[in-house]
Amino acid sequence: MRVLDEVASGRFHQVESIARNVLTAYGYAEFRTPILEHTELFVRSVGQSTDIVGKEMYTFEDRGGRSLTLRPEGTAPVVRAVIERGIRNTPMPLKLFYIGPYFRYERPQKGRYRQFHQIGAELLGDARPEADVEVIQMLVELLGACGFSGLTVALQTLGDDESRDRFRATLVEYLTPQHERLSPESQERLESNPLRILDSKVRGDREILADAPRIDGSLTEEARKHFERVQQLLDLVGVSYRLDSSLVRGLDYYTGTVFEISSDELGAQDALVGGGRYDNLVAELGGTSTPAIGFAIGLDRVVEAMPETQAQDRPRAVVLPLHHEALATALRTAAVLRDAGISTDVGDADRGIGKALQVADRRGIRWAVLIGEDELAAEEWSLKDLISGDQQRVGTVQELASTIQQETD
Ligand code: HAM
Repeated sequence: MRVLDEVASGRFHQVESIARNVLTAYGYAEFRTPILEHTELFVRSVGQSTDIVGKEMYTFEDRGGRSLTLRPEGTAPVVRAVIERGIRNTPMPLKLFYIGPYFRYERPQKGRYRQFHQIGAELLGDARPEADVEVIQMLVELLGACGFSGLTVALQTLGDDESRDRFRATLVEYLTPQHERLSPESQERLESNPLRILDSKVRGDREILADAPRIDGSLTEEARKHFERVQQLLDLVGVSYRLDSSLVRGLDYYTGTVFEISSDELGAQDALVGGGRYDNLVAELGGTSTPAIGFAIGLDRVVEAMPETQAQDRPRAVVLPLHHEALATALRTAAVLRDAGISTDVGDADRGIGKALQVADRRGIRWAVLIGEDELAAEEWSLKDLISGDQQRVGTVQELASTIQQETD
């Protein structure tokens, strides 16, 4: 499992705070669910024949003999919790977001970790295409605020139940004569869950799938209208997208609109965000039938691909009392700087000012505030920029703070 050091944590925090701002502006409230859930929850929602459930879950028995799993995703836990709280009494639409660690036993590589982090959101109780569009628009805005420009929104519909039933039948009809050429896993899926075959990465399967029927041909009138409306509205709000009939999400609960967003910075096969509609899940998990849509942003990937300029930390300063009588002033000065958003230490100049400045520089601190006998007598502060080496006298502590902030921007 990966350690997030102080640099990575800072960048995580920055994206999290941008996300909190945007999500709350769209009316979402934060929700926290446990990291452990009953294994059964993910088997029933994500799906027995998916890679996540079949190969990637961290599952174990607890002391009471129950099978528990480290959550591999956030939608099923949120839906479970909302159902337990009582969905009938919940005013709809319900907009919830969550931020936290998730676990999948995948082969670790850049952008793919066994403990990773998601910022996710779920919008329950709104079946309109407008909801789909609001969610996608919000994501584009959120990623834009993180500094991404070259974003690709890949869009697809899985249709309603009837569309999928029709499509499943058409697909089975097409694949059955090719049964012998399919990989063993796909042969098995032809029986258990044919739509999952579309997700196969095996070369031979992909060749067969190249000419396979597409869902478009199986859509009911209603499903087609919904999806067309989504596209019209996206055009209207100026979000560009690419229709992608090969978009297969790795979880079985999806219905209707699905999407992934990737960035030129990262390479298209690693999505920054995945999401879509799951109008049947609430009912499947025992709640009153409720339409829903949601997404999860891969926080690790966003942080790795985020343009460097956005990763601006707070300015950092060290206040150095150079005389024993300067300590009280130094403590008060540090309090004012911290209040102004400057990350401030009170340093130790006992071993000489040269040594103290060297230590600050090595720790990546740019600003040193020196308070010696002269400064105390003049009621002034000396501000040293450790990058340029320039030093200036400043007459008030407010001016000290504003100089540090202006020069750091
Ligand atoms: P997902 O596509 O499985 O969807 O994951 C969403 C995002 O999480 C991915 O696009 C990726 O950025 C990130 N991610 C997934 N696995 C890893 C990993 N091993 N390492 C790093 N990042 C990873 C879901 O999880 C759905 N629950 C999203 C959703 C919410 N759909 C509806 N509501």
